Amino acid sequence: MERMRRLRSSAALRDLVRENRISIDDLIYPVFVAEGQNIKNPVESMPGVFQWSLDRLHELVGEVTGSGIKAMMVFGIPVHKDEVGSQAYDRNGIAQRAVKKIKELSPDMLVVADVCLCEYTSHGHCGLVDHGHIMNDETLPLLAKAAVTLAEAGADLIAPSDMMDGRIGYIRDALDKAGFVNTPIMAYSAKFASAYYSPFRDAAHSAPAFGDRKTYQMDPANGNEAVRECMIDEAEGADILIIKPGLAYLDVLKEVSQNSVLPLAVYNVSGEYAMVKAAAQQGWIDEKRIVMENMISMKRAGANMIITYHALDVARWLAE
Ligand code: PBG
Ligand code: ZN
Repeated sequence: MERMRRLRSSAALRDLVRENRISIDDLIYPVFVAEGQNIKNPVESMPGVFQWSLDRLHELVGEVTGSGIKAMMVFGIPVHKDEVGSQAYDRNGIAQRAVKKIKELSPDMLVVADVCLCEYTSHGHCGLVDHGHIMNDETLPLLAKAAVTLAEAGADLIAPSDMMDGRIGYIRDALDKAGFVNTPIMAYSAKFASAYYSPFRDAAHSAPAFGDRKTYQMDPANGNEAVRECMIDEAEGADILIIKPGLAYLDVLKEVSQNSVLPLAVYNVSGEYAMVKAAAQQGWIDEKRIVMENMISMKRAGANMIITYHALDVARWLAE
């Protein structure tokens, strides 16, 4: 008989043979920054998550820094939206100012800037629209401008989440030409057209006004295609690959980890967070144990880092 239980007989032995661990170093905490004053608006579908205005951002950044978390990801919520998403690449845009503010408040905090148009366009799509069609090549210069202005504001990493083709090479080139040769690109390479993003769209006011994102984001049915997306972004110069969402796509994460030696991030998205929070509020699950199990499964599947709204809770539990 193979006695598998031999190595499970005590806590110390289990600790010794444990294959994966979650650490504070793995965590990236997303933040929503809104234009306006004295804002700390709860996001209803994401208990514990708020929209913050710049003048109150110190409250959150202080808490995140104090928790030991070393990286934050910034999403801007502008007042003014238009057809071409001009606030996404305005030097004085809300995301640019938020990046600058976080670096002032906490200079050692790694600031990851999400690059997309959907929070800034009146139609809510991630690219320029022409007669209902999302235009690829015409969108690239705007994404590049957004990336460069965010790097100028002090962003440590640039994370394009738009899913236009060719964007990684295009943005890499623009960053290099602007002198940001050392700013890494964290590419949302395999981003699926998922129903798990709906609480985020409430939080960031970025739901598409017509249609859906299926012509640019991936079909949830496809795994090989995700590997291909990752290989292309790697060849175009991505430094880190992101798989998104997380829990329903662990097979994709695993497969990509076996096909690339780049560092891998997983985005444990808003809908995954909302489901756990809702069940926990009902008393139906043990929130801490469920969240830690979710975190370790993403590490086991191959993630080196996890973008998660649970990060502050996880940091607290790790410290206990
Ligand atoms: C914008 C963007 C989205 C998310 C991150 N960046 C939403 C979308 O594609 O509609 C989702 C994050 C989450 O659900 O937590 N392109
Ligand atoms: Zn978008």
